[in-house]
Amino acid sequence: MGLLDGKRLLVTGVLTDSSIAFNVAKLAQEEGAQVVLTGFGRLSLVERIAKRLPEPPPVIELDVQNDDHLDTLADRVGAHLDGLDGIVHSIGFAPQSCLGGNFLNTSWEDVATAVHVSTFSFKSLAVACLPLMKEGGAVVGLDFDATKAWPVYDWMGVAKAGLESCSRYLARDLGKHGIRVNLVAAGPLRTMAAKSIPGFKEFEEAWPERAPLGWDLADTAPAAKACVALLSDWFPATTGEIVHVDGGVHAMGV
Ligand SMILES: NC(=O)c1ccc[n+]([C@@H]2O[C@H](COP(=O)([O-])OP(=O)(O)OC[C@H]3O[C@@H](n4cnc5c(N)ncnc54)[C@H](O)[C@@H]3O)[C@@H](O)[C@H]2O)c1
Repeated sequence: MGLLDGKRLLVTGVLTDSSIAFNVAKLAQEEGAQVVLTGFGRLSLVERIAKRLPEPPPVIELDVQNDDHLDTLADRVGAHLDGLDGIVHSIGFAPQSCLGGNFLNTSWEDVATAVHVSTFSFKSLAVACLPLMKEGGAVVGLDFDATKAWPVYDWMGVAKAGLESCSRYLARDLGKHGIRVNLVAAGPLRTMAAKSIPGFKEFEEAWPERAPLGWDLADTAPAAKACVALLSDWFPATTGEIVHVDGGVHAMGV
């Protein structure tokens, strides 16, 4: 018996095999789920990476800034699955000026891009998939603790604060459809998204020291396992929640 036997999932955000979403898709398949991936931009790269999963899944195109992609998403997913029981939002992007200590000078245009891709898309993705979720299900997003001001994370931190709030409002409005909405707040992981953050090494040095459980920056499995758990039937009464998978850093003082 797998934790996700019979579940039909849409997993966004696979770019490389170090993507958090790659490990979510892998564990989900190992736990019995059927998976469809979405890819952004370099689709042939995502298709190549998808072949490294236990069951190479279909890959469909999704740019969350493209309304046509969102409007047709349910039909395109529906060509592979007869419904959805879960969605994974593992998408984040901010222009370089939003990160790295430039907080006071970033333009609204760049902040708007960060919020469009990293925050508003959580709602767009869930609503685009709603026609396929007639029997309820789970929506899970990837967060970075937004209760504090971190070094270098800057406007991405603001976008994540918005994501946390968005998640609670989605939980409010999708509860009547039997859909749970939760976030996994992961500690820092060496993915493509992290490499694009100037000064990311400040996190790399501090996190393993501050985490009571320790922290492996190269291991996406703890975050992926939490996503799988939230997609399963084992959190039936949990929504609007943020599960911290960070070695315990969020709970510590200095
Ligand atoms: N790496 C970390 O330290 C860390 C920590 C906590 C949370 N997160 C979050 O995890 C999620 C996944 O990031 P990751 O670290 O696995 O890095 P990643 O670079 O592997 O994944 C980011 C994904 O976002 C996708 N994306 C960017 N713009 C898009 C758009 N317009 N439309 C659709 N997709 C788009 C990229 O194609 C990529 O697949 C992000 O939300 C990120 O903020 C990452």
